[in-house]
Amino acid sequence: MFPGVLLALYLTAVSLGQQAGTILPESHPTLTWQKVTLDSHWRWIHSASDYTNCYTGNTWNVSICPDPQACATNCALDGADYSGTYGILTSGGALTLKFITNPTNGQTNIGSRVYLLADDAHYEMFKLLNREFFFDVDVSSLPCGPNGALYFSEMEVDGGMAANLSNRAGAKYGTGYCDSQCTRDLKFINGEANVLGWTASAHDPGAGAGNWSACYNELDVWEANSISTTYIPHPCTNTGLHRCSGTECGTEDRYSTVCDPDGCDFNPFRMGDKTFYGNGLTLDTSRKFTVVTQFFTSDNSTSGLLSEIRRLYVQDGKVITNSQVNVPGMSTSDSITSEYCTAQKAFFGDVGQFGSRGGITGVSAAMARGMVLVFSVRNDYTNNMFWLDSNYPTDADPSKPGVTRGTCAPNVVMPYPVDVPENVNAHVTFSNIKFGEIGSTYYSDST
Ligand SMILES: *[C@@H]1O[C@H](CO)[C@@H](O)[C@H](O)[C@H]1NC(C)=O
Ligand SMILES: *[C@@H]1O[C@H](CO)[C@@H](O)[C@H](O)[C@H]1NC(C)=O
Ligand SMILES: *[C@@H]1O[C@H](CO)[C@@H](O)[C@H](O)[C@H]1NC(C)=O
Ligand SMILES: *[C@@H]1O[C@H](CO)[C@@H](O)[C@H](O)[C@H]1NC(C)=O
Repeated sequence: MFPGVLLALYLTAVSLGQQAGTILPESHPTLTWQKVTLDSHWRWIHSASDYTNCYTGNTWNVSICPDPQACATNCALDGADYSGTYGILTSGGALTLKFITNPTNGQTNIGSRVYLLADDAHYEMFKLLNREFFFDVDVSSLPCGPNGALYFSEMEVDGGMAANLSNRAGAKYGTGYCDSQCTRDLKFINGEANVLGWTASAHDPGAGAGNWSACYNELDVWEANSISTTYIPHPCTNTGLHRCSGTECGTEDRYSTVCDPDGCDFNPFRMGDKTFYGNGLTLDTSRKFTVVTQFFTSDNSTSGLLSEIRRLYVQDGKVITNSQVNVPGMSTSDSITSEYCTAQKAFFGDVGQFGSRGGITGVSAAMARGMVLVFSVRNDYTNNMFWLDSNYPTDADPSKPGVTRGTCAPNVVMPYPVDVPENVNAHVTFSNIKFGEIGSTYYSDST
């Protein structure tokens, strides 16, 4: 470990840049069939000519980074020590992401995000219409708060290198992320640093926000801990990456962006089945299980329009069908369709932005163009993941349908993650990823 990087690691997020650094060789850990790369957000960024940090904790060094272009020229993203620094482990077909790494030695890292690579310079692009996607997951150690996620984002295949010549790092170094939240904590967008208006976060010692953000279509297949789970398509009206600034980034109103930040979610607990998902319940989260997600199209072809996203599980060799909607007044169903999304938004009184940002059709178009597979484990400094596993909005009456999403304590003040004893061993493991024709990836022992 280089002395210059210690502080940055302690402060959670190592920063990124756009030149390719060579001080620590970049060597991607291997899944059985492919490789993954760490998002540039977590990497050490240093002067392209020496070890000086370009970004430390949650602030930029303004002498190296006086403006977006100079910063991209002057700074390099470096290789990562995946297991030692970030708690990212691969073994055969399994990927484990630890929530907290090095909690006590002054080099603490919280969370990570990695992408599946097709080769060392390109992300794997998934086109899953009329296909199903299979993985095993172990969330047993994830308590209230952290979220182990598997999702797809409409990132560029090379991380944006071809589009922006100032980005010399590319997919190899995990560049080009963005999502439907139009998050402003991205350090580089389109090969330029997000230094204009950068403000350090008041809560998160490793993050800040600049004046720019980027928005992409996002398809959340799995957002979960051992308490709650949900899957959520999030459409955006743009195709590919959209760099924004000001209100268009949702600075004053999170609904003012080109995306639907809420999406159309299916969380069994929120949808009225409180005994389906959890420790010792129908789907027992104290043990590993299989998640199968099926993307049906209207004409059962790969060129058709997405019509339905179905979910099923396999545990102990038995297929477990998704929970049924059990909300008085709403019709019974167990999957995401346009009808379900419209009814759910209206019935819960949620902001009805799913349709105006493209709805299922918009998500379908993004899937047809191809999306990158993202794995992450993270916390949520803004609202403590209440939208996943507790009551949300926090000021809403919990007896109102749709407000309770899980059994975690509502409205507690978010402690520093390292101070929560259950977090110290928290991790998520994804394994046996496969995809193929609908019905081809799983079987039931009991048939
Ligand atoms: C910022 O960068 C300048 C120029 O490389 C360097 O002299 C200075 O030490 C850096 N400051 C910090 C706090 O790293
Ligand atoms: C970077 O790429 C984006 C997307 O292709 C493009 O709109 C933008 O003009 C490029 N920026 C620069 C500085 O080349
Ligand atoms: C950043 O955005 C704020 C709010 O819109 C604006 O007042 C400020 O001038 C911007 N900063 C820069 C350097 O563009
Ligand atoms: C598509 O497949 C489903 C399930 O196998 C079937 O019920 C449906 O009739 C098919 N639709 C078309 C348009 O062929």
